Amino acid sequence: MKEFSLELPTRIYFGNYNVEEALKIESKWLTGNVMIVTTGRSLIKFGYLNELKKILDNLLNVKETVIFDNISANPKLEEIEEAVKIGTDRQVKAIIGFGGGSAIDAAKATAVGIGNSEKLDRFLLEGIEPSGNTLPIIAIPTTAGSGSELSKGAIITSLTYHMKSGIRGAAILPKAAIVNPVYTWTIPLGITMETGFDALAHAIESYMAVKANSWSHMISEKAIKTAGQNLLLLMENIDNHEARKAMSYASMIVGINLANVGTCLPHRMQYAVGVKTDTSHAAGISALYPAWIQRQYDVSENKVKDIMYWLTGKKILSGEEAREEMAEFMRKISVLKTLADLGIKKEDLPELIKQVTGNISNDRLSEQKDIISSIYYDSL
Ligand SMILES: [Fe+2]
Repeated sequence: MKEFSLELPTRIYFGNYNVEEALKIESKWLTGNVMIVTTGRSLIKFGYLNELKKILDNLLNVKETVIFDNISANPKLEEIEEAVKIGTDRQVKAIIGFGGGSAIDAAKATAVGIGNSEKLDRFLLEGIEPSGNTLPIIAIPTTAGSGSELSKGAIITSLTYHMKSGIRGAAILPKAAIVNPVYTWTIPLGITMETGFDALAHAIESYMAVKANSWSHMISEKAIKTAGQNLLLLMENIDNHEARKAMSYASMIVGINLANVGTCLPHRMQYAVGVKTDTSHAAGISALYPAWIQRQYDVSENKVKDIMYWLTGKKILSGEEAREEMAEFMRKISVLKTLADLGIKKEDLPELIKQVTGNISNDRLSEQKDIISSIYYDSL
């Protein structure tokens, strides 16, 4: 068994209808003005945003609750700069991320921008680690997929610099993650499957990662099995609340792997696809998955066999079979796509290949020459 260290400073609250109680316990972080960063819309429609504001307003030390809901699905640096300006003017002292992964990532970046003296784009462009002056963050996810509530990354797109990259560091680990699966009950089937597939991808990639260890393996195995069963149950009945809860759980525990182990090539390669097409994170990941899993068989045969057995109950014997079975599972949950489906053309690929940034050495395939080009071309 190889050595590893595990960092889990975020306090987890998991369960239905637990938000008010959890926020009372965490009220030490919530003094003065507090800002909710959210993607809004459906949370406003179902009354959840109002409900959260009321809970915060009733906390003893909260003076005022400021709402910033101008965050889009792939959060933009320019939107966050606006949140930082408002938060600074209103002397906000804590940030609540309320929504899907985009809202929580935007909340983290807002906390960095208000708490640190450097301009926000430097964290993104130069990879500077946010300091301990970053405002405290409480994450309340309303989807089951990103795992951002327990991760130390915030993925941001810059329109000015035409790039998608991450702000990373322990300072942006939320102080608390309040996971209430009830918020996911109203999510439509398509988004449920897409975000659920993202959680599954986190479990799979953190299992394949060079940095994986015996602890992260345990989490990956549990999450792959849970997502494999419960996404199919939700395809049959979207109102299966136990399956919803299981997906919130799987997504959350894999967040621990995101913070400690990280992901592989599909997550690095999706960023360029997202910038080019403004399609969702999960859509980009799913377009790359069949070609990527096939190649993984060449470098980690036994691990691919494990994954496919946990996911489908089948014993596969080749990379081609892994690809077919993965595609079959993705077809069953309606997330199977190609890069062409997302609007990518063959002539776009050289530009995409150049735009893959960040450390790719966590993927064993990174040692193979032209692997990025090979996966992109094979995913068209
Ligand atoms: Fe992801």
